[in-house]
Amino acid sequence: MRERIAEAVAAIRSRIGDFSPEAAIIFGTGLSSLGREVAEARSIPYREIPHFAEATVESHAGELVFGRLGGRPIVAMKGRFHFYEGHDMQAITFPVRVMHALGAGTLIVSNAAGGMNPRFDVGDVCVLEDHINLLGDNPLRGRNDPELGPRFPDMSAPYDRELMAHAEDVALLHGIKLHRAVYVAVTGPCLETRAEYRFLRAVGADLVGMSTVPEVIVARHESMRVCAFSIITDACLPDALRPTGLDEIIATAARAEPKLNEIVKGLLERLPR
Ligand code: HPA
Repeated sequence: MRERIAEAVAAIRSRIGDFSPEAAIIFGTGLSSLGREVAEARSIPYREIPHFAEATVESHAGELVFGRLGGRPIVAMKGRFHFYEGHDMQAITFPVRVMHALGAGTLIVSNAAGGMNPRFDVGDVCVLEDHINLLGDNPLRGRNDPELGPRFPDMSAPYDRELMAHAEDVALLHGIKLHRAVYVAVTGPCLETRAEYRFLRAVGADLVGMSTVPEVIVARHESMRVCAFSIITDACLPDALRPTGLDEIIATAARAEPKLNEIVKGLLERLPR
């Protein structure tokens, strides 16, 4: 693993020199407009980076973007890898290890999620306070490299309390409603049945989605500070469920995106040094 990380880092360094990002950002489904605000941006397609998988979902570009956002040096993934695409957990999370190796000590993740908490509305933004991994797999399964992180990483607080508080301050300042939420990751690609939403709500989740948890686990394995956001793209209320699809999810994400962009920029400005 460490050799593969080093090869990817070397290929990236040959393009960006000694630029050192403080934060890594993963843009989720329909949430890429912030990428256009990256100053002094330089992009590298995933296919030009050794050991990076190919992004297959149409709504996701596949490139790493380097530049400045909120005044801070960042690296961002435009397009991520999902379990439902057939990628294994190592492929999904490899970019997180590479971004950490390039210098990023913080990971900021965004995603589109279904809202199961009846107090939440479609279009609302949430900051994750915890997650439940129902993917049936874990990116840390297999031999552990103690140079990368511990065999049994602590998960008592995967989402950084200080960053969460900063995000809430920024939201308040901009008059944006921001819920704290528990996110459950499922494999997809089917959306859930009514009975499944009932089950997922009952086990303690406010939101359901098909991403984020693998990347967060690996970021915590590497002791990165993590802050994650969801945009609620559909209401997953088992007794009032309407059919939905990717087009509607992307359109809702795009409408709510300016709120999330404000929060992420404000959070970057406040990022502890
Ligand atoms: N379920 C799973 N993933 C999702 C959903 C959903 O309802 N909405 C957006 N991503």
